[in-house]
Amino acid sequence: MNPALQFIFSRRSIRSFTEQAVSDELVEDLLQAAMAAPSAKKKDPWHFLVIRDRQRLRAMARIQPYGRMLRQAPLGILVCGDIELALDQELSFMLQDLSAAMENLLLAANVLGLGACWVGVHPRKERMSGLAELFGLPERIIPVAAVALGWPAKTAEARTRYNPARVHREEWTETSAGGS
Ligand SMILES: Cc1cc2nc3c(=O)[nH]c(=O)nc-3n(C[C@H](O)[C@H](O)[C@H](O)COP(=O)(O)O)c2cc1C
Repeated sequence: MNPALQFIFSRRSIRSFTEQAVSDELVEDLLQAAMAAPSAKKKDPWHFLVIRDRQRLRAMARIQPYGRMLRQAPLGILVCGDIELALDQELSFMLQDLSAAMENLLLAANVLGLGACWVGVHPRKERMSGLAELFGLPERIIPVAAVALGWPAKTAEARTRYNPARVHREEWTETSAGGS
């Protein structure tokens, strides 16, 4: 692994956090990184809802079955898309833009020493409607993903999941390992 890319390999999903607060300045850094992401025709169809209130974080965790870590995280960010702002009002463009922003945010968190975990929302209807109701989202605003954030209580080893069977050169090649 190229050491220059260590900031990518060391980004891991962190699901337990210390009680130490995350400053507003650091949150601003994360959001600047998120909004530096590529976006189709620079439409920037994203919104970021920053949540520190413990009751709201607990309510989010109840809506998201795999987001239990939000109960204990000092901070959550709900990443939402505005379908009216997305290129051609296309859901796919909106999701691609938001995924790029999510990854920038997660990498920035890692570089700053924070721990973070992507918590899935879209396309699970019950999670989307639950979060829309909880936060009073207007119709055009689609909750896409949440991030649980804090100072890591645990670390995980740096690694890649590089799989040579997923790399094709010049033309398609089928290998027995290609599907795994
Ligand atoms: C679309 C998406 C949804 C995810 N949803 C959850 C989730 O709800 N809960 C969770 O704990 N992790 C979630 N993850 C994190 C993955 O489980 C994690 O990225 C994967 O296991 C690889 O581990 P790593 O992030 O440490 O490299 C999600 C990741 C993505 C990209």
